[in-house]
Amino acid sequence: MPDAPKIPRHVAIIMDGNGRWANQRGLPRLRGHEEGAESVRAVIRACRDYGVRYLTLYAFSVENWVRPQSEIRGLMSLLRKFLAEREHELHENHVRLRVIGRMEDLPLPIQHSLKRVIKATAAYDQGELILALSYGGRAEITHAVQAIAREVKAGLLAPKAIDEQTIAAHLYAPDIPDPDLLIRTSGEMRISNFLLWQISYTELYITEVLWPDFREAELAKAIEAYGRRKRRFGDTKERDV
Ligand code: IPE
Ligand code: IPE
Ligand code: MG
Repeated sequence: MPDAPKIPRHVAIIMDGNGRWANQRGLPRLRGHEEGAESVRAVIRACRDYGVRYLTLYAFSVENWVRPQSEIRGLMSLLRKFLAEREHELHENHVRLRVIGRMEDLPLPIQHSLKRVIKATAAYDQGELILALSYGGRAEITHAVQAIAREVKAGLLAPKAIDEQTIAAHLYAPDIPDPDLLIRTSGEMRISNFLLWQISYTELYITEVLWPDFREAELAKAIEAYGRRKRRFGDTKERDV
């Protein structure tokens, strides 16, 4: 009997290439983001069908704030639309919404709707959709270090008691397991400040396909590739006798 296909428990995606998709067609970048939002829908659904429990989507980085205001406004309005149109699916499927990132940087009405949906879905246990918004891996680690320093200053923690678990416990979503598979679309061979702490042993899958073209069939390829990987975590499984 062949082994059952291995399904990653946690998939994280750097959804890149919307602008290039639009450029190639002589369209404004925002059209690429709109088409990218359709990929978000398709991939959320396909991940659910595969039984992927945690899906983290890098939707907006701390570095993305330097983009033109018109593009930022367009992205924020797509986010608002996504929440309005997709919330019912979270309820129907009992999927919990989470946000990692500097949520306080987002426009207030978006913060309010995010907080409302996060609260309304908090008890669901059939899966988690984690949106990385105004997210930066270094910002996340810096935020954790500040919180740890406050505990040390208050006498609640001894510096020598700080270990990897302490740091992990102060990240934005400490209960979520590290990603098993990290997908990046549009071919760039970089991490762009995403989940720096959490991806130390994550399997990487980088495809030339641009995010607006990344749908069920492309996700299937990524999951198949993951299934063929041998994860060793530094261990050869050989032991001294
Ligand atoms: C990814 O697409 C979406 C965000 C970063 C918000 P880009 O907008 O980065 O598209 P490219 O990389 O310019 O093609
Ligand atoms: C990474 O894409 C961030 C998101 C997908 C939200 P970018 O387009 O911002 O990254 P770089 O500029 O290619 O590194
Ligand atoms: Mg990009």
